[in-house]
Amino acid sequence: MNTSRPLRIAMAGLGTVGGGVAEALAARAGELASRGGRALELVSVFARDRKKARKKELANIPWADDLAAMAKSDADVVVELIGGENGAALSLVEASLRAKKHVVTANKALLASHGTKLAALAEQNGVALKFEAAAAGGIPVVKALRESLIAHGVDAVRGILNGTCNYILTQMEATGRSFEDVLADAQKLGYAEADPELDVGGGDTAHKLSLLAGLAFGIAPDLKNITTQGIRHITPEDIRFAREFGYRIKLLGVARATPHGIDQRVQPAMVRLGTPLADVDGVFNAVRADAGAAGPFFFEGRGAGEAPTASAVVADLVDIARGSIGPVFGRPASALKAVSPAPPEARTSAFYLRFKVLDLPGVLADIARQLARCEVSIESMIQRGRGHGEAVSIVMITHECPQAAVERALNAIEGSDKVIGQPCMIPMEAG
Ligand code: NAP
Ligand code: HSE
Repeated sequence: MNTSRPLRIAMAGLGTVGGGVAEALAARAGELASRGGRALELVSVFARDRKKARKKELANIPWADDLAAMAKSDADVVVELIGGENGAALSLVEASLRAKKHVVTANKALLASHGTKLAALAEQNGVALKFEAAAAGGIPVVKALRESLIAHGVDAVRGILNGTCNYILTQMEATGRSFEDVLADAQKLGYAEADPELDVGGGDTAHKLSLLAGLAFGIAPDLKNITTQGIRHITPEDIRFAREFGYRIKLLGVARATPHGIDQRVQPAMVRLGTPLADVDGVFNAVRADAGAAGPFFFEGRGAGEAPTASAVVADLVDIARGSIGPVFGRPASALKAVSPAPPEARTSAFYLRFKVLDLPGVLADIARQLARCEVSIESMIQRGRGHGEAVSIVMITHECPQAAVERALNAIEGSDKVIGQPCMIPMEAG
Protein backbone atom coordinates (compact mmCIF):
# COMPACT_ATOMS: atom_id res chain seq x y z
CA MET A 1 0.00 0.00 0.00
CA ASN A 2 1.29 3.46 -0.90
CA THR A 3 1.40 5.32 2.41
CA SER A 4 2.74 8.58 1.00
CA ARG A 5 -0.68 9.77 -0.20
CA PRO A 6 -3.98 10.17 1.68
CA LEU A 7 -6.00 7.08 2.56
CA ARG A 8 -9.01 7.27 0.23
CA ILE A 9 -12.21 6.21 1.96
CA ALA A 10 -15.53 5.26 0.39
CA MET A 11 -18.45 4.94 2.83
CA ALA A 12 -21.77 3.17 2.28
CA GLY A 13 -24.48 3.86 4.86
CA LEU A 14 -24.92 7.43 6.01
CA GLY A 15 -27.23 6.91 8.98
CA THR A 16 -26.41 7.14 12.68
CA VAL A 17 -22.92 5.63 12.43
CA GLY A 18 -22.05 6.88 8.93
CA GLY A 19 -22.97 10.45 9.93
CA GLY A 20 -20.82 10.17 13.05
CA VAL A 21 -17.84 8.89 11.06
CA ALA A 22 -18.09 11.76 8.55
CA GLU A 23 -18.26 14.26 11.40
CA ALA A 24 -15.26 12.81 13.29
CA LEU A 25 -13.13 12.57 10.12
CA ALA A 26 -13.79 16.26 9.42
CA ALA A 27 -13.55 17.57 12.99
CA ARG A 28 -10.29 15.77 13.82
CA ALA A 29 -8.66 15.69 10.38
CA GLY A 30 -5.27 17.05 11.53
CA GLU A 31 -4.93 14.81 14.57
CA LEU A 32 -6.07 11.73 12.65
CA ALA A 33 -3.56 12.43 9.88
CA SER A 34 -0.86 12.67 12.51
CA ARG A 35 -1.98 9.41 14.13
CA GLY A 36 -2.38 7.60 10.81
CA GLY A 37 0.80 8.97 9.24
CA ARG A 38 -1.24 10.42 6.38
CA ALA A 39 -4.52 12.20 5.73
CA LEU A 40 -7.79 10.26 5.85
CA GLU A 41 -9.95 11.50 2.99
CA LEU A 42 -13.62 10.68 2.48
CA VAL A 43 -13.81 10.49 -1.31
CA SER A 44 -17.13 8.81 -2.01
CA VAL A 45 -20.41 7.98 -0.24
CA PHE A 46 -23.60 6.06 -0.91
CA ALA A 47 -26.95 5.38 0.78
CA ARG A 48 -30.49 4.56 -0.32
CA ASP A 49 -32.06 7.99 -0.52
CA ARG A 50 -30.08 10.78 -2.09
CA LYS A 51 -32.60 13.42 -1.07
CA LYS A 52 -32.52 12.72 2.66
CA ALA A 53 -31.10 15.43 4.94
CA ARG A 54 -27.55 14.48 6.01
CA LYS A 55 -24.80 15.82 8.24
CA LYS A 56 -23.21 18.97 6.80
CA GLU A 57 -19.84 17.15 6.56
CA LEU A 58 -21.39 14.91 3.88
CA ALA A 59 -22.68 17.77 1.73
CA ASN A 60 -19.77 18.02 -0.69
CA ILE A 61 -18.65 14.41 -0.87
CA PRO A 62 -19.35 12.85 -4.29
CA TRP A 63 -21.89 10.00 -4.37
CA ALA A 64 -20.98 6.70 -5.98
CA ASP A 65 -23.38 5.60 -8.75
CA ASP A 66 -24.17 2.46 -6.78
CA LEU A 67 -22.58 -0.04 -4.40
CA ALA A 68 -21.01 -2.06 -7.21
CA ALA A 69 -19.31 1.09 -8.50
CA MET A 70 -18.06 1.86 -5.00
CA ALA A 71 -16.41 -1.57 -4.77
CA LYS A 72 -14.68 -0.96 -8.12
CA SER A 73 -13.69 2.66 -7.38
CA ASP A 74 -10.17 3.90 -6.70
CA ALA A 75 -10.80 4.09 -2.94
CA ASP A 76 -8.34 2.26 -0.67
CA VAL A 77 -10.96 1.41 1.98
CA VAL A 78 -14.68 0.73 1.84
CA VAL A 79 -16.60 1.39 5.08
CA GLU A 80 -19.79 -0.68 5.28
CA LEU A 81 -22.37 0.93 7.59
CA ILE A 82 -25.54 -0.36 5.96
CA GLY A 83 -26.26 -3.26 8.31
CA GLY A 84 -27.96 -6.62 7.84
CA GLU A 85 -26.66 -10.15 7.66
CA ASN A 86 -26.95 -10.57 3.89
CA GLY A 87 -28.10 -8.46 0.96
CA ALA A 88 -26.42 -5.17 0.12
CA ALA A 89 -23.91 -5.29 2.98
CA LEU A 90 -22.64 -8.78 2.13
CA SER A 91 -22.42 -8.06 -1.62
CA LEU A 92 -20.53 -4.82 -0.98
CA VAL A 93 -18.04 -6.37 1.44
CA GLU A 94 -17.37 -9.38 -0.79
CA ALA A 95 -16.95 -7.25 -3.92
CA SER A 96 -14.71 -4.76 -2.12
CA LEU A 97 -12.41 -7.46 -0.71
CA ARG A 98 -12.21 -9.15 -4.12
CA ALA A 99 -11.25 -5.76 -5.59
CA LYS A 100 -8.43 -5.61 -2.99
CA LYS A 101 -9.98 -2.83 -0.94
CA HIS A 102 -9.66 -2.82 2.82
CA VAL A 103 -13.03 -3.02 4.56
CA VAL A 104 -14.17 -1.55 7.88
CA THR A 105 -17.59 -2.58 9.15
CA ALA A 106 -19.74 -2.20 12.28
CA ASN A 107 -21.98 -5.04 11.13
CA LYS A 108 -22.08 -7.82 13.74
CA ALA A 109 -24.94 -9.69 12.03
CA LEU A 110 -22.89 -9.95 8.84
CA LEU A 111 -19.72 -11.15 10.58
CA ALA A 112 -21.50 -13.57 12.92
CA SER A 113 -22.79 -15.41 9.85
CA HIS A 114 -20.03 -14.88 7.29
CA GLY A 115 -16.99 -13.91 9.40
CA THR A 116 -14.77 -16.88 8.60
CA LYS A 117 -15.47 -16.79 4.87
CA LEU A 118 -14.89 -13.01 4.71
CA ALA A 119 -11.70 -13.28 6.80
CA ALA A 120 -10.36 -15.82 4.28
CA LEU A 121 -11.33 -13.56 1.38
CA ALA A 122 -9.55 -10.59 2.98
CA GLU A 123 -6.40 -12.68 3.47
CA GLN A 124 -6.44 -14.05 -0.08
CA ASN A 125 -6.54 -10.49 -1.36
CA GLY A 126 -3.97 -9.10 1.09
CA VAL A 127 -6.32 -6.55 2.64
CA ALA A 128 -7.72 -5.77 6.08
CA LEU A 129 -11.22 -6.47 7.36
CA LYS A 130 -11.65 -4.55 10.62
CA PHE A 131 -14.68 -4.56 12.91
CA GLU A 132 -13.96 -2.80 16.20
CA ALA A 133 -17.44 -1.21 16.21
CA ALA A 134 -19.25 -4.52 15.71
CA ALA A 135 -18.85 -5.77 19.30
CA ALA A 136 -19.51 -3.46 22.25
CA GLY A 137 -19.55 -0.32 20.06
CA GLY A 138 -17.02 2.21 21.30
CA ILE A 139 -15.22 -0.12 23.73
CA PRO A 140 -11.86 -1.12 22.19
CA VAL A 141 -12.25 -4.78 23.12
CA VAL A 142 -11.81 -6.25 19.64
CA LYS A 143 -8.30 -4.84 19.43
CA ALA A 144 -7.58 -5.88 23.01
CA LEU A 145 -8.54 -9.51 22.30
CA ARG A 146 -6.95 -9.58 18.86
CA GLU A 147 -3.63 -7.95 19.73
CA SER A 148 -3.14 -7.31 23.43
CA LEU A 149 -4.34 -10.20 25.59
CA ILE A 150 -2.40 -12.89 23.76
CA ALA A 151 0.60 -13.80 25.91
CA HIS A 152 -1.37 -15.93 28.37
CA GLY A 153 -4.46 -16.74 26.34
CA VAL A 154 -8.02 -16.12 27.47
CA ASP A 155 -10.00 -18.50 29.69
CA ALA A 156 -13.32 -16.68 29.61
CA VAL A 157 -15.02 -13.62 28.16
CA ARG A 158 -18.19 -12.29 29.77
CA GLY A 159 -20.00 -9.24 28.54
CA ILE A 160 -22.99 -6.98 28.81
CA LEU A 161 -23.20 -6.49 25.07
CA ASN A 162 -26.67 -5.09 24.49
CA GLY A 163 -27.48 -1.61 25.76
CA THR A 164 -31.22 -2.00 25.21
CA CYS A 165 -31.43 -5.05 27.50
CA ASN A 166 -29.21 -3.48 30.14
CA TYR A 167 -31.36 -0.34 30.08
CA ILE A 168 -34.54 -2.41 30.49
CA LEU A 169 -33.14 -4.48 33.38
CA THR A 170 -31.77 -1.36 35.09
CA GLN A 171 -35.13 0.42 34.78
CA MET A 172 -37.08 -2.64 35.97
CA GLU A 173 -34.93 -2.64 39.10
CA ALA A 174 -35.15 1.12 39.66
CA THR A 175 -38.92 1.37 39.17
CA GLY A 176 -40.28 -2.10 39.96
CA ARG A 177 -42.16 -1.99 36.63
CA SER A 178 -42.70 -4.95 34.32
CA PHE A 179 -40.60 -5.90 31.32
CA GLU A 180 -43.40 -4.94 28.89
CA ASP A 181 -43.88 -1.48 30.46
CA VAL A 182 -40.21 -0.63 30.44
CA LEU A 183 -39.76 -1.94 26.89
CA ALA A 184 -42.55 0.36 25.70
CA ASP A 185 -40.69 3.32 27.28
CA ALA A 186 -37.40 2.23 25.72
CA GLN A 187 -39.11 2.22 22.32
CA LYS A 188 -40.51 5.72 22.89
CA LEU A 189 -37.03 6.95 23.85
CA GLY A 190 -35.58 5.39 20.70
CA TYR A 191 -33.32 2.90 22.56
CA ALA A 192 -35.20 -0.16 21.36
CA GLU A 193 -36.26 -0.85 17.79
CA ALA A 194 -39.94 -1.00 16.81
CA ASP A 195 -39.23 -4.74 16.45
CA PRO A 196 -37.03 -5.26 19.50
CA GLU A 197 -36.75 -9.05 19.22
CA LEU A 198 -33.10 -9.09 18.14
CA ASP A 199 -32.22 -7.11 21.27
CA VAL A 200 -34.50 -8.59 23.96
CA GLY A 201 -34.38 -12.12 22.54
CA GLY A 202 -30.58 -12.17 22.96
CA GLY A 203 -29.76 -12.45 19.22
CA ASP A 204 -27.79 -9.20 19.07
CA THR A 205 -25.71 -10.27 22.09
CA ALA A 206 -25.10 -13.64 20.40
CA HIS A 207 -23.84 -11.91 17.24
CA LYS A 208 -21.33 -9.92 19.30
CA LEU A 209 -20.36 -12.87 21.49
CA SER A 210 -19.58 -14.99 18.43
CA LEU A 211 -17.00 -12.36 17.38
CA LEU A 212 -15.43 -12.02 20.83
CA ALA A 213 -15.24 -15.83 21.16
CA GLY A 214 -13.61 -16.03 17.72
CA LEU A 215 -10.96 -13.54 18.79
CA ALA A 216 -10.42 -15.00 22.25
CA PHE A 217 -10.32 -18.70 21.40
CA GLY A 218 -9.44 -18.85 17.70
CA ILE A 219 -12.76 -20.49 16.82
CA ALA A 220 -14.88 -19.80 13.76
CA PRO A 221 -17.82 -17.53 14.71
CA ASP A 222 -20.90 -19.72 14.55
CA LEU A 223 -24.27 -18.82 16.05
CA LYS A 224 -25.25 -22.51 16.12
CA ASN A 225 -22.78 -23.01 18.97
CA ILE A 226 -24.37 -20.34 21.18
CA THR A 227 -27.29 -21.23 23.45
CA THR A 228 -29.38 -18.06 23.48
CA GLN A 229 -32.06 -16.91 25.88
CA GLY A 230 -33.41 -13.36 26.17
CA ILE A 231 -34.89 -11.36 29.04
CA ARG A 232 -38.66 -11.49 28.38
CA HIS A 233 -39.25 -13.99 31.21
CA ILE A 234 -37.52 -11.90 33.89
CA THR A 235 -40.04 -10.46 36.36
CA PRO A 236 -39.72 -7.54 38.80
CA GLU A 237 -40.03 -10.21 41.50
CA ASP A 238 -36.89 -12.00 40.23
CA ILE A 239 -35.05 -8.69 40.29
CA ARG A 240 -36.20 -8.01 43.88
CA PHE A 241 -35.24 -11.49 45.08
CA ALA A 242 -31.88 -11.22 43.32
CA ARG A 243 -31.18 -8.05 45.29
CA GLU A 244 -32.21 -9.73 48.53
CA PHE A 245 -29.70 -12.52 47.89
CA GLY A 246 -27.02 -9.93 47.00
CA TYR A 247 -27.13 -10.13 43.20
CA ARG A 248 -28.28 -8.22 40.11
CA ILE A 249 -29.66 -9.80 36.96
CA LYS A 250 -27.74 -8.97 33.78
CA LEU A 251 -28.07 -10.33 30.26
CA LEU A 252 -24.58 -11.74 29.69
CA GLY A 253 -22.82 -13.21 26.70
CA VAL A 254 -20.35 -15.76 28.09
CA ALA A 255 -17.71 -17.77 26.24
CA ARG A 256 -15.60 -19.99 28.44
CA ALA A 257 -12.96 -22.69 27.92
CA THR A 258 -13.99 -25.86 29.76
CA PRO A 259 -12.46 -29.35 29.79
CA HIS A 260 -15.36 -30.30 27.47
CA GLY A 261 -14.90 -27.52 24.92
CA ILE A 262 -15.78 -23.83 24.54
CA ASP A 263 -19.10 -23.17 26.22
CA GLN A 264 -20.89 -20.19 24.61
CA ARG A 265 -24.16 -18.85 25.87
CA VAL A 266 -26.32 -15.75 26.08
CA GLN A 267 -28.64 -15.70 29.06
CA PRO A 268 -29.72 -13.64 32.05
CA ALA A 269 -27.29 -14.29 34.89
CA MET A 270 -27.04 -13.40 38.58
CA VAL A 271 -23.98 -11.25 39.14
CA ARG A 272 -22.88 -10.49 42.70
CA LEU A 273 -23.46 -6.90 43.88
CA GLY A 274 -20.26 -4.90 44.11
CA THR A 275 -18.50 -6.68 41.22
CA PRO A 276 -17.69 -4.60 38.13
CA LEU A 277 -20.26 -6.21 35.80
CA ALA A 278 -23.05 -5.85 38.39
CA ASP A 279 -22.39 -2.10 38.57
CA VAL A 280 -22.88 -1.47 34.83
CA ASP A 281 -26.13 0.47 34.47
CA GLY A 282 -28.39 1.77 31.74
CA VAL A 283 -27.32 1.58 28.11
CA PHE A 284 -23.66 0.97 28.95
CA ASN A 285 -21.81 -2.16 27.79
CA ALA A 286 -18.93 -3.94 29.54
CA VAL A 287 -16.63 -6.88 28.94
CA ARG A 288 -14.59 -8.88 31.42
CA ALA A 289 -11.80 -10.96 29.88
CA ASP A 290 -9.96 -13.47 32.10
CA ALA A 291 -6.51 -13.66 30.57
CA GLY A 292 -4.82 -16.60 32.30
CA ALA A 293 -1.88 -15.65 34.52
CA ALA A 294 -2.36 -11.99 33.55
CA GLY A 295 -5.68 -12.04 35.41
CA PRO A 296 -9.04 -10.44 34.68
CA PHE A 297 -9.39 -7.23 32.64
CA PHE A 298 -12.49 -5.09 32.63
CA PHE A 299 -13.69 -2.74 29.90
CA GLU A 300 -16.74 -0.48 30.18
CA GLY A 301 -18.24 2.19 27.97
CA ARG A 302 -20.92 3.05 25.48
CA GLY A 303 -21.80 0.16 23.22
CA ALA A 304 -23.92 2.12 20.78
CA GLY A 305 -24.76 5.59 19.55
CA GLU A 306 -23.29 7.90 16.95
CA ALA A 307 -20.09 9.09 18.62
CA PRO A 308 -18.98 5.87 20.40
CA THR A 309 -19.56 3.70 17.33
CA ALA A 310 -17.89 6.22 15.02
CA SER A 311 -14.95 6.30 17.45
CA ALA A 312 -14.36 2.58 16.85
CA VAL A 313 -14.74 2.86 13.06
CA VAL A 314 -12.28 5.75 12.89
CA ALA A 315 -9.75 3.86 15.04
CA ASP A 316 -9.87 1.01 12.48
CA LEU A 317 -9.34 3.50 9.64
CA VAL A 318 -6.30 5.00 11.37
CA ASP A 319 -4.86 1.49 11.86
CA ILE A 320 -5.27 0.82 8.15
CA ALA A 321 -3.70 4.19 7.28
CA ARG A 322 -0.66 3.08 9.29
CA GLY A 323 -0.51 -0.20 7.37
CA SER A 324 -1.89 -2.54 10.04
CA ILE A 325 -3.63 -5.24 8.04
CA GLY A 326 -3.03 -8.32 10.19
CA PRO A 327 -5.38 -11.33 10.11
CA VAL A 328 -9.00 -10.55 10.84
CA PHE A 329 -9.39 -12.68 13.97
CA GLY A 330 -5.74 -12.41 15.03
CA ARG A 331 -4.66 -15.66 13.38
CA PRO A 332 -4.96 -16.99 9.81
CA ALA A 333 -8.56 -17.71 8.80
CA SER A 334 -7.53 -21.30 8.01
CA ALA A 335 -6.49 -21.70 11.69
CA LEU A 336 -9.96 -20.76 13.01
CA LYS A 337 -11.32 -23.99 14.49
CA ALA A 338 -14.82 -25.14 13.60
CA VAL A 339 -16.19 -26.34 16.93
CA SER A 340 -19.46 -27.91 18.07
CA PRO A 341 -21.73 -26.72 20.86
CA ALA A 342 -20.24 -27.64 24.23
CA PRO A 343 -21.93 -30.73 25.75
CA PRO A 344 -24.22 -30.30 28.81
CA GLU A 345 -21.45 -31.38 31.22
CA ALA A 346 -19.55 -28.20 30.29
CA ARG A 347 -22.12 -26.19 32.24
CA THR A 348 -21.85 -26.08 35.98
CA SER A 349 -22.64 -23.19 38.30
CA ALA A 350 -24.80 -22.22 41.24
CA PHE A 351 -28.38 -21.38 40.23
CA TYR A 352 -31.23 -19.12 41.30
CA LEU A 353 -34.52 -21.04 41.11
CA ARG A 354 -38.01 -19.57 41.47
CA PHE A 355 -41.15 -21.69 41.71
CA LYS A 356 -44.70 -20.33 41.83
CA VAL A 357 -46.61 -22.85 43.95
CA LEU A 358 -49.81 -23.30 45.91
CA ASP A 359 -49.08 -22.78 49.60
CA LEU A 360 -50.13 -26.27 50.75
CA PRO A 361 -48.52 -28.88 53.06
CA GLY A 362 -45.75 -30.89 51.40
CA VAL A 363 -45.15 -28.62 48.38
CA LEU A 364 -41.77 -27.43 49.60
CA ALA A 365 -40.83 -30.99 50.63
CA ASP A 366 -41.71 -32.27 47.11
CA ILE A 367 -39.48 -29.64 45.49
CA ALA A 368 -36.62 -30.37 47.89
CA ARG A 369 -37.02 -34.14 47.26
CA GLN A 370 -36.75 -33.74 43.47
CA LEU A 371 -33.68 -31.52 43.84
CA ALA A 372 -32.09 -34.02 46.22
CA ARG A 373 -32.89 -36.90 43.82
CA CYS A 374 -30.91 -35.07 41.13
CA GLU A 375 -28.11 -34.27 43.60
CA VAL A 376 -28.78 -30.54 43.59
CA SER A 377 -27.94 -29.06 46.98
CA ILE A 378 -29.75 -25.95 48.25
CA GLU A 379 -27.63 -23.17 49.71
CA SER A 380 -30.38 -20.73 50.77
CA MET A 381 -34.11 -20.25 50.38
CA ILE A 382 -36.86 -17.65 50.78
CA GLN A 383 -40.63 -18.16 50.92
CA ARG A 384 -43.01 -15.37 51.85
CA GLY A 385 -46.37 -16.92 52.74
CA ARG A 386 -49.79 -15.45 52.02
CA GLY A 387 -53.03 -17.27 52.77
CA HIS A 388 -53.28 -21.08 53.01
CA GLY A 389 -53.69 -22.52 49.49
CA GLU A 390 -52.79 -19.27 47.70
CA ALA A 391 -50.02 -18.87 45.11
CA VAL A 392 -46.66 -18.06 46.59
CA SER A 393 -43.09 -17.87 45.29
CA ILE A 394 -40.38 -20.16 46.63
CA VAL A 395 -36.93 -18.95 45.73
CA MET A 396 -33.69 -20.89 46.18
CA ILE A 397 -30.01 -20.54 45.50
CA THR A 398 -28.26 -23.86 44.85
CA HIS A 399 -24.67 -24.85 45.45
CA GLU A 400 -22.57 -25.26 42.32
CA CYS A 401 -23.86 -28.21 40.29
CA PRO A 402 -24.33 -29.38 36.68
CA GLN A 403 -27.04 -27.44 34.82
CA ALA A 404 -28.28 -30.77 33.43
CA ALA A 405 -29.02 -31.96 36.99
CA VAL A 406 -31.08 -28.83 37.74
CA GLU A 407 -32.97 -29.24 34.47
CA ARG A 408 -33.82 -32.86 35.32
CA ALA A 409 -35.19 -31.78 38.70
CA LEU A 410 -37.17 -28.88 37.19
CA ASN A 411 -38.78 -31.18 34.61
CA ALA A 412 -40.08 -33.38 37.41
CA ILE A 413 -41.16 -30.43 39.58
CA GLU A 414 -42.99 -28.76 36.67
CA GLY A 415 -45.24 -31.82 36.39
CA SER A 416 -46.70 -31.28 39.88
CA ASP A 417 -50.27 -29.93 40.01
CA LYS A 418 -49.22 -27.69 42.94
CA VAL A 419 -46.65 -25.86 40.81
CA ILE A 420 -48.00 -23.02 38.67
CA GLY A 421 -46.34 -22.24 35.35
CA GLN A 422 -42.69 -22.79 34.49
CA PRO A 423 -40.01 -22.53 37.16
CA CYS A 424 -37.39 -19.83 36.50
CA MET A 425 -33.71 -20.86 36.48
CA ILE A 426 -30.91 -18.28 36.34
CA PRO A 427 -27.21 -19.22 36.63
CA MET A 428 -24.73 -17.30 38.78
CA GLU A 429 -21.78 -15.76 36.94
CA ALA A 430 -18.58 -14.10 38.09
CA GLY A 431 -18.80 -10.34 37.63
P1 NAP B 1 -28.98 3.41 10.13
O1 NAP B 1 -28.97 4.67 10.90
O2 NAP B 1 -30.25 2.71 9.90
O3 NAP B 1 -28.27 3.70 8.72
C1 NAP B 1 -28.21 2.75 7.71
C2 NAP B 1 -27.71 3.42 6.46
O4 NAP B 1 -27.62 2.43 5.45
C3 NAP B 1 -28.66 4.51 5.92
O5 NAP B 1 -27.90 5.61 5.48
C4 NAP B 1 -29.35 3.83 4.75
O6 NAP B 1 -29.70 4.73 3.71
C5 NAP B 1 -28.27 2.90 4.26
N1 NAP B 1 -28.80 1.77 3.53
C6 NAP B 1 -29.72 0.88 3.92
N2 NAP B 1 -29.94 -0.04 2.97
C7 NAP B 1 -29.13 0.28 1.96
C8 NAP B 1 -28.89 -0.27 0.69
N3 NAP B 1 -29.54 -1.36 0.26
N4 NAP B 1 -27.98 0.31 -0.11
C9 NAP B 1 -27.31 1.42 0.31
N5 NAP B 1 -27.50 1.99 1.51
C10 NAP B 1 -28.40 1.42 2.32
O7 NAP B 1 -28.01 2.33 10.80
P2 NAP B 1 -26.83 2.59 11.84
O8 NAP B 1 -27.42 2.65 13.21
O9 NAP B 1 -25.97 3.70 11.37
O10 NAP B 1 -26.05 1.18 11.77
C11 NAP B 1 -25.16 0.88 10.74
C12 NAP B 1 -24.38 -0.39 11.11
O11 NAP B 1 -23.69 -0.17 12.33
C13 NAP B 1 -25.24 -1.62 11.36
O12 NAP B 1 -24.57 -2.76 10.94
C14 NAP B 1 -25.40 -1.64 12.87
O13 NAP B 1 -25.67 -2.92 13.40
C15 NAP B 1 -24.03 -1.17 13.27
N6 NAP B 1 -23.96 -0.59 14.62
C16 NAP B 1 -24.77 0.45 14.94
C17 NAP B 1 -24.69 1.00 16.21
C18 NAP B 1 -25.53 2.16 16.59
O14 NAP B 1 -25.41 2.64 17.72
N7 NAP B 1 -26.39 2.69 15.72
C19 NAP B 1 -23.77 0.47 17.13
C20 NAP B 1 -22.94 -0.58 16.76
C21 NAP B 1 -23.04 -1.11 15.49
P3 NAP B 1 -30.73 5.95 3.90
O15 NAP B 1 -30.08 6.87 4.91
O16 NAP B 1 -30.82 6.55 2.58
O17 NAP B 1 -32.00 5.34 4.41
N1 HSE C 1 -29.21 -2.64 19.57
C1 HSE C 1 -27.89 -2.57 20.07
C2 HSE C 1 -27.92 -2.36 21.58
C3 HSE C 1 -27.18 -1.43 19.35
O1 HSE C 1 -28.99 -2.13 22.16
O2 HSE C 1 -26.88 -2.45 22.21
C4 HSE C 1 -25.69 -1.58 19.25
O3 HSE C 1 -25.26 -2.78 18.73
